[in-house]
Amino acid sequence: MCGIVGCVGLPKAVGVVLDGLASLEYRGYDSAGAAWPEGGRIALVRAAGRVADLRNLLGGRAGLDVETAIGHTRWATHGAPVEKNAHPQVSADGRIAVVHNGIIDNFVKLRGELEDAGIVFNSDTDTEAIANLVAREYAGDLVRAVETALPLLDGTFALGVMAADQPGLVVGARRGSPLAVGIGVGFHLLASDAVPIIPHTRRVVFLGDDQVAVVAPGACEIREKGVPIDWACTEVTWSADAARKGGYDHFMLKEIHEQPIVLENMFRDRLRLPPASDSDPEFIFPEMEFSADYFKGISRIVLLAQGTAYHACMVGRNMIERVARVPTYPEYAADFRYRDPILDPSVLVIAVTQSGETMDTLHAVRLARESGCKVLALVNAVGSSIAREADAVFYLNCGPEIGVASTKAFTAMIAGLYFLALRMGQIRETVDRQEIRRRVNDLLGIGHRLEAVLALDQKIRRIARKYKDAANFLFLGRGTGWPLAMEGALKLKEVSYIHAEGYDAAEMKHGPIALVDENMPVFFIALGGRRYDKIVGNIHEVRARKGRIIALASHGDKAISKIADDVVRIRAESGIMNSICCAVPLQLLAYHVAVLRGSDVDKPKNLAKSVTVE
Ligand code: G6P
Repeated sequence: MCGIVGCVGLPKAVGVVLDGLASLEYRGYDSAGAAWPEGGRIALVRAAGRVADLRNLLGGRAGLDVETAIGHTRWATHGAPVEKNAHPQVSADGRIAVVHNGIIDNFVKLRGELEDAGIVFNSDTDTEAIANLVAREYAGDLVRAVETALPLLDGTFALGVMAADQPGLVVGARRGSPLAVGIGVGFHLLASDAVPIIPHTRRVVFLGDDQVAVVAPGACEIREKGVPIDWACTEVTWSADAARKGGYDHFMLKEIHEQPIVLENMFRDRLRLPPASDSDPEFIFPEMEFSADYFKGISRIVLLAQGTAYHACMVGRNMIERVARVPTYPEYAADFRYRDPILDPSVLVIAVTQSGETMDTLHAVRLARESGCKVLALVNAVGSSIAREADAVFYLNCGPEIGVASTKAFTAMIAGLYFLALRMGQIRETVDRQEIRRRVNDLLGIGHRLEAVLALDQKIRRIARKYKDAANFLFLGRGTGWPLAMEGALKLKEVSYIHAEGYDAAEMKHGPIALVDENMPVFFIALGGRRYDKIVGNIHEVRARKGRIIALASHGDKAISKIADDVVRIRAESGIMNSICCAVPLQLLAYHVAVLRGSDVDKPKNLAKSVTVE
């Protein structure tokens, strides 16, 4: 949470930082600020509210002829989201400015020590202690001052540090929170991820834990334990356009519409289907440096995630157990890590995360590694902490997901887990060649299928208009319809602030049915399959209690119109195709309800895209 940007060597650096902050707002958006060295002092402008408020406050200063600046967009942890708690935080002597993402656990102690030494604090933040610590150590050598202060900090941080009397120098450091360095010709950038960097350069270094980056216009040094180390760039493949709205009103809508191409790309890149039916389909995982033995001798799989990624894991469990026949347990990483889980080297842990930075997932990964487990990461963000710490990675390659409510990463996670399930089944010989071919064929044409679902947009908007004033919503499904129901409810509450619950329809009679009356819309995922009759039974039960029924059903299901108030129809096919296609109407419903209610869809209140605190 929180986004940081630093710039050295580009003209109008304050404007560059502002644009960068705007593209990082999905990390937090309750206050923002920028600082730059000006005549031996730190110039500081901060605003409660959005980056747009900061831009207004800065006015013409965004175009100032300065080449060094740092900035921050905040998701408050310590201290209310008011101007004095916004970053940059400046040391009491005015010499050092710091932007920070993370939490300093021992800041109360540090602050006490500094106050005892006569330093006056002006904010409620943990970050101000860092600025003052660096200032205490600063005698003209900023790198040394930062490197002396860092070991005193407990907790997590990505930092950008600047000194008033050293224009042309920014020092970055990280432990536990992400920090990327953009490598340009005659300029360098620091940022929480690659998104603000890409408009300027695609060459990026993802800093490792306890590394320090020292950037000046023409030089970049990466240091560890006080000495420079060799470093190598990653060439980011997606373009700056990928991080823009591209004609859509919101990132969320754009990302919903990107799903056909994301999924098609995954199939093109990850699968070779030889024409002869007696040859094996070949799965391609170029970023995984391990042999087929990796999937042998596994006693159990644990899928670790939070939020939307957890729902993808619930779908994934069904697929892995069916295809690869390994007992599989989706777990909330936060609960898992504090539960003293039973782990050993025969357990394969798969961490599933869009950002690769979710703090609880990261800590659970570390615990799994310490316990000797194999740890595979299914991640979207290249170079992220979890991608680096796992022993194998499967990149989702969705491009940047900016909308806070995850959409395209969700369906990509389901598809990625399906690929892994098939590959595991192939290696473990739990499925034969024909079965794998049949299952792979099930997914051919996924892009067209998703396009057809997206064409329901206006129909779903009409349904959204009808139900937009509901105070509550229930989503019910069975089998993989259950995690999809949970995801539908999560999407709706995230962006529209309507209270919504997603349940296994089989659980309905154990509680949720008590809520059903003429004011309760109930969204059923009723696409056929083994559990279809049971779902229809549940629909009748809700109808008998005057609930308002929206059903996601197949084209061929004529009977459903008689029992549902509204029906969204898609083509029902194989289980996996249905799981992916069902997600889209749920996403569109949440999106349209939110727009109609006037919510800020891409930046829902209190949420952040990347939860890098516990
Ligand atoms: C936050 C985001 C969600 C996301 C979850 C897990 O809550 O708002 O959209 O699903 O974190 O994030 P991850 O990056 O680990 O997938």
